Amino acid sequence: MTSEDIEALISLAEDAMKRAIAPYSGFKVGAALLCADGKTYTGCNIENPSLMLTACAERVALQSALSDGYTSFSAMAIVSNDERYCFPCGSCRQMLMEFAPDIQLYLRSKTGIKKFTIAELLPYPFSK
Ligand code: THU
Repeated sequence: MTSEDIEALISLAEDAMKRAIAPYSGFKVGAALLCADGKTYTGCNIENPSLMLTACAERVALQSALSDGYTSFSAMAIVSNDERYCFPCGSCRQMLMEFAPDIQLYLRSKTGIKKFTIAELLPYPFSK
């Protein structure tokens, strides 16, 4: 991906972050998923008074794409309203490993952008 492609994906994640429903934590997250054919999907976190039902931004984007029939993914940008990098939680890592094993993850903090593979973030994954 060119740096322009990465910036464009991060910009989509930032737009999605603005739609976060996070009245309980105040922690807003946005994710933008790039499919192999160039189509993009976004997601934000959606909290609920029963906090266990909270949906993470990454899985909202991934499940939206999967439910549209997309199965091949190349990159995901993840941003938050915190100054630090927002690393995906364990559940999101597990789902990304299962459905997007070759994905490149671009995390944006106040200081810059870092790139990870899902294998770096989830070594020794559970698999059937
Ligand atoms: N959250 C995400 O959306 N993605 C992550 O990778 C980590 C956490 C959300 C869940 C919850 O709404 C808030 O951030 C943290 O409490």
